[in-house]
Amino acid sequence: MYRLVFTQVLRRLDAETVHRLTVSALALLARLPLLKRLLHRAFAPHDPVLRITAFGVHFPGPLGLAAGFDKDAACAEAVAALGFGHVEVGTITAHAQPGNPRPRLFRLVPQRAVINRMGFNNDGARAAARRLRRPRGVPVVVGVNIGKTKVVPESGAVADYVAGAKELAPLADYLVVNVSSPNTPGLRDLQAVELLRPLLTAVKEVADGTPRRTPLLVKIAPDLADDDIDAVADLALELGLDGIVATNTTIRHGGETGGLSGRPLKERSLEVLRRLRARVGDRLTLVSVGGVEDADDVWERVLAGATLVQGYTGWIYGGPLWAAGIHRQLARRVRRHGMKSIAEAVGRTA
Ligand SMILES: Cc1cc2nc3c(=O)[nH]c(=O)nc-3n(C[C@H](O)[C@H](O)[C@H](O)COP(=O)(O)O)c2cc1C
Repeated sequence: MYRLVFTQVLRRLDAETVHRLTVSALALLARLPLLKRLLHRAFAPHDPVLRITAFGVHFPGPLGLAAGFDKDAACAEAVAALGFGHVEVGTITAHAQPGNPRPRLFRLVPQRAVINRMGFNNDGARAAARRLRRPRGVPVVVGVNIGKTKVVPESGAVADYVAGAKELAPLADYLVVNVSSPNTPGLRDLQAVELLRPLLTAVKEVADGTPRRTPLLVKIAPDLADDDIDAVADLALELGLDGIVATNTTIRHGGETGGLSGRPLKERSLEVLRRLRARVGDRLTLVSVGGVEDADDVWERVLAGATLVQGYTGWIYGGPLWAAGIHRQLARRVRRHGMKSIAEAVGRTA
């Protein structure tokens, strides 16, 4: 059914227009308490074998929605009602900004991929904070992904991230420092350890200072050299971070300017996960994202050491109930392997 709607209707419309309409529809759903609760009961993960705890936070299932869809924290509870175990909102910057000129989002349908150069279009930290304070009506784990405001130079980056963190860390179940999006000039340079250490140290101080101590993770690019991945992993351990989100989109492709996501990213994303697991073992929570399309992919990531898995492009091609279907299949698989919980599978093949 979704395939028909996709090929006959959605595919013919501009990708960003479809995205905007979808977010608006879900924001509306988020304001309809009864329908939202009904959908949540039908599609959110409720099977106890899928429950998993990471950095002290309880997740109803391992598969969440990656950053970039709900950039303004407008509809996280509706996304959860469709079957995702958590929603990472953002990237949110300290100051509102329009992002890059359109068009900036492109589907590559035969490759089951997307290229985007959105450039952190968002309403800014204060507006997101206001939305995050609203009662949600259904349980939903919300991670908040923060980035640098485009007009702020590298010398002001730490202060800019800290400003965003101060607004948002108290409202987040976990916080992610995004230094890996390819569409803000210079952002990925912050992954170099000399720049990353002061940045993460400063944001961690803010996250540690919230009443519940907000868990802190860093999100990295798939295009880092292997030695640099090790260096970021060592730094995360040294600073006492809670985890690493790997990976963002790749700039290694021959298409439109921007970051590529979806199927072509699968192999490298898995490779980065394996490298991280080999380096840090279970001392950090690893969140694997990039090219996840089905339950086999999620299972493979979990076995390779991911406690949590995220997807975005897979949802675009898989349809609204993509995550609900994957969670159902995962629960069956956990039982088939004679496990009591998916937590037992984490790192099994690592
Ligand atoms: C349209 C679009 C916008 C995105 N925006 C962000 C963003 O604002 N912040 C971020 O950390 N990642 C962003 N991402 C990257 C995703 O969170 C994810 O890391 C990447 O797409 C790989 O996962 P996937 O192959 O499942 O899509 C975006 C991805 C897409 C497709």
